[in-house]
Amino acid sequence: MKQISIYFFLFWLISLSALAQRENIISDESKVPAYQVPDVLTRFNGRKIKSERVWLKKQRPEIQKKFTEEIYGKVPGELKISEVKVWETSDNALNGTATRKQLSLFFTKKDRTLEVNVLMYLPKSVEKAPVFLACNFNGNHTISNDPAIRLTESWVENDPSVGFINNQVTEQSRGCKSDSWPVEQIIKAGYGLVTVYYGDIDPDKNDFSDGIHPFFYEGNQTRPKSNEWGSVAAWAWGLSRVMDYLETDNQVDAKKVAVLGHSRLGKAALWAGANDQRFAMVISNESGCGGAALSKRIFGETVERINSSFPHWFCDNFKKYNDKEDLLPVDQHMLLAMIAPRPLYVASAADDLWADPKGEFLSAKYASAVYELLGLEGLPAKEMPKVNQPVMGTIGYHIRSGKHNLTQYDWEQYIKFADKHLK
Ligand code: GCU
Repeated sequence: MKQISIYFFLFWLISLSALAQRENIISDESKVPAYQVPDVLTRFNGRKIKSERVWLKKQRPEIQKKFTEEIYGKVPGELKISEVKVWETSDNALNGTATRKQLSLFFTKKDRTLEVNVLMYLPKSVEKAPVFLACNFNGNHTISNDPAIRLTESWVENDPSVGFINNQVTEQSRGCKSDSWPVEQIIKAGYGLVTVYYGDIDPDKNDFSDGIHPFFYEGNQTRPKSNEWGSVAAWAWGLSRVMDYLETDNQVDAKKVAVLGHSRLGKAALWAGANDQRFAMVISNESGCGGAALSKRIFGETVERINSSFPHWFCDNFKKYNDKEDLLPVDQHMLLAMIAPRPLYVASAADDLWADPKGEFLSAKYASAVYELLGLEGLPAKEMPKVNQPVMGTIGYHIRSGKHNLTQYDWEQYIKFADKHLK
């Protein structure tokens, strides 16, 4: 009897703490506490910025340093592509409208090798194609039913419903994510699509013994130092290495590469685009906390929550801000501002409160000050636009109806935005 009551007590305690945790998550606008975000055009020493030069030479590098040291972590060294192996080139993909290329980028250091599989569809109607570059969540073969796409041998999270067994993909999952990748439509609009499986760069688990991180360990090191990269920065690094390859591919216009990502991969796309100015356009699809959404609003996912659910995504320093967002020296609008003057699109979904649509909108709005300083339009909306009413200046934004996902509707806006800025 005594034992039963102890169990009961423990159960009660655990449920209570789970409940308390959940109650920390705000999903009601009226419960957002007062907060302040730093003014992007005020320097950390308090001086106001009035010139393009001070923004570019002083503020931007200082902001970049804070994001690197405190949030995403720095890349500890340099590693170039050691070898490109082209597996195939077909001029007869997608009913003859596209060229399909598949190649691997190999990275070698001492006894380690990493293979990143790249899948490309390029429109035959264009000599040098502008492209969308994006990581995918489940393997290149999941983005289309095309039977020629090679299967990744990298680790995947088990999911028997699509045949991911023993952490490996199988034929069953071919095309299972094709709804998020309207390849035909992209090609028809005159763009290419270049994609890689994010797990080829770094498997998405709290384990720093695999993926790209160990390539840089010194001595007995087994994980990155507290100011060194987590997985988001690793995926961003991978996007830049794909860009290195694209610069050598004469079927691609490397000056017109839009880097895009959904959710955690939207965080990676933003970090890649902020650091690597070769990306001509940056698109964040529902990237939420640690992506486009303001952290200090603490609406939806919080710093504490993301760091406990995904302890490997950011650098260890970021954990200092668990439940202490007010102490963050920067907020995410400053990350968006780093993308200026390049076109930036931020997208939200109405039912995706976890990613804080309003926090994503406000972030885009506050970043506009830098675009304006640089003589550009920024975001052409003072108030949050209505559902399914996109706005497009040099910053674009929409909140579409529906759930957290990358959809055909989202792509239609990205193509329009690219037509406006990349063509
Ligand atoms: C979780 C996580 C988000 C992330 C999302 C995703 O919901 O909390 O931060 O964006 O996964 O990547 O789908």
